[in-house]
Amino acid sequence: MRAKVSVIGAGMVGGTSAQRLAERGYSDVVLLDIVEGLARGKALDILQSLPVVGSDAGIIGTASYDDVADSDIVVITSGIARKPGMSREDLVLTNMKIVAGVCENVARVAPESIVVVVTNPLDAMVQLALSVTGFERGRVIGQSGILDTARLRTFIAEELGVAVTSVSAYVLGGHGNTMLALPRLCTVGGVPLRELLPPERVEALVQRAVNGGAEIVGLLQTGSAYYAPSAAAVSMVDSIVLDRKNILPCAVQLKGEYGIDDVVVGVPVKLGAAGVEQVLELALTDDEMAALRRSADAVRETVTLMGLR
Ligand code: NAI
Ligand code: 2OP
Repeated sequence: MRAKVSVIGAGMVGGTSAQRLAERGYSDVVLLDIVEGLARGKALDILQSLPVVGSDAGIIGTASYDDVADSDIVVITSGIARKPGMSREDLVLTNMKIVAGVCENVARVAPESIVVVVTNPLDAMVQLALSVTGFERGRVIGQSGILDTARLRTFIAEELGVAVTSVSAYVLGGHGNTMLALPRLCTVGGVPLRELLPPERVEALVQRAVNGGAEIVGLLQTGSAYYAPSAAAVSMVDSIVLDRKNILPCAVQLKGEYGIDDVVVGVPVKLGAAGVEQVLELALTDDEMAALRRSADAVRETVTLMGLR
């Protein structure tokens, strides 16, 4: 039997994620939005594209959680996106109500599902989803580092004129201004990045990646990025549905790893059929560890703002 993946929120990230999933063909897809016509219209449009792209996945649009019942994976993209000048944290008070309501429904109709959170502010929304669903931490995972890392890889590849697939990079921490790029661990064809570029160029590329979301908001003016975010979220679904056990940077609640307890931040994890199957602990320098803890403190502040603790 095919897996069932539900995408909550049929906006830019949700609609594009549903399209990517339906084109993969390994799951049936449910696209849910409070604006029923939006979900149904996009799902019908995607369905009619599948004969052309050669996928026989099923996809429906709906406003009813009955259709989400027994999903294997639920991707949460519902919520407002950043407008120019708005920080991710500005979104918190609106999006916490939306995500809490969605999670109550998900826990009711799909109690065995694995939840992939995309809505911002990301790390705080993962913490909220954990609290509302009551699921164990391995089944509530946030998309952050795959996107942030992809941005850094893109800029490094452009700078050096090499294929992006030859570049590997690490970005840890919260999905916000305190995200922590680790140039020390970036390599190009296995060669340390620091042997290929002077420190000031590396720092400029890192800063562009840190501001990657805001750069796109500034260009679009009407919303935030969705092609790369949906690609990142769906790569998490790939690893879970296909039990690939990829090592990916994802937002997960730490339980003592990196000396951090009960806070959600981005770290490398092994993603497989059970969700997060392992949290990897990189050997960080003292400065890197301090920066990761600062990032965790920033997430804690947002969580406190939500009145969660
Ligand atoms: P969008 O505005 O295009 O779509 C949001 C959709 O959520 C709308 O269609 C809206 O009707 C729906 N919605 C609102 N309340 C709902 C509810 N209670 N139940 C179901 N649907 C509901 O926004 P976009 O661009 O798709 O972004 C969605 C979220 O993802 C934003 O919070 C954005 O900041 C975040 N985001 C996170 C990224 C990440 O890397 N974690 C990357 C890109 C976006
Ligand atoms: C991004 O980084 C808005 O979080 C989103 O593009």
